[in-house]
Amino acid sequence: MAKILVIGALGQLGSELTQALCEKYGKEAVIATDIRHPEIKPAFPFAILDVMDKEALRKLVQKEGIQQIFHLAAILSAKGEKNPQLAWNLNMTSLLNVLDIARENNIKKVFWPSSIAVFGPSTPKDNTPQTTIMDPNTVYGISKLAGERWCEYYYEKFGVDVRSIRYPGIISYKAQPGGGTTDYAIDIFIQALTTGKYECFLEADARLPMMYIDDAVRGTIELMDADADNLTVRSGYNLGAMSFTPEEIASEVMAHLENFEITYEPDFRQQIAASWPSSVDDSSARDDWKWDHAYDLGKLCEVMLKGMRELLENQSM
Ligand code: SER
Repeated sequence: MAKILVIGALGQLGSELTQALCEKYGKEAVIATDIRHPEIKPAFPFAILDVMDKEALRKLVQKEGIQQIFHLAAILSAKGEKNPQLAWNLNMTSLLNVLDIARENNIKKVFWPSSIAVFGPSTPKDNTPQTTIMDPNTVYGISKLAGERWCEYYYEKFGVDVRSIRYPGIISYKAQPGGGTTDYAIDIFIQALTTGKYECFLEADARLPMMYIDDAVRGTIELMDADADNLTVRSGYNLGAMSFTPEEIASEVMAHLENFEITYEPDFRQQIAASWPSSVDDSSARDDWKWDHAYDLGKLCEVMLKGMRELLENQSM
């Protein structure tokens, strides 16, 4: 059975993607890894792996007979600005390790996440095209753009079947996000349900592309399942679902919790948000592998409030 390796399996995307892969292929087919120990025993086979240790990665791949790798470990945009060297080093070296090991061991497919952070201040903001000006000005965005180039390079030169998505902000409640600019759209739900107030670190009108985690997980699996002949993009696919501003999500939250209050205290993350698209043109994904999103802002708020409420209740029990 195809053995699937997930790197960064305890992260926001990793934890739910690993779960979905186990449901689809069976637990025995998946090996989940992370640099940190899980807080509770995971429901899938788990090993500690530092992806910066190429030899350890090689050994694991060979020992387990790995045929697919999902490499999700990264330092995100806001956290990356606090330590640019570390973010560059981790994001780039880990990807190059994975690509090299994939090439050396004839791994069938590799998934690596890119981001809307590959775009920058000169990129057209609305309905940002798949191919356009890219001048990212965060270390995270620079590493994602360079990473996309490396993915395409390994595909073209060495035939490594690498696939990638430029994720928008991913919204979920089960696992913590990793220090991104779009995290406000998760914090807002926690604060709405606990204190009833939220101080937003972006401006009221900072419109960004966003996606509910279930769409992100399903899209990832659909891209990995797609026939290689249908894929025209080997850098990273633009992938859209919804776009909203802090003001818009706040008023949707208020429709459920009428006393909720939001205030705005923009910090350095506002500048990052201002350099990113407000919406993306994802027609390549829609044409090549029939991408379609299921969650809009209304549905997102319903599912987030319900899920987060249950989570908070369980925590306080
Ligand atoms: N959600 C990510 C971030 O804000 C974007 O890829 O860093």
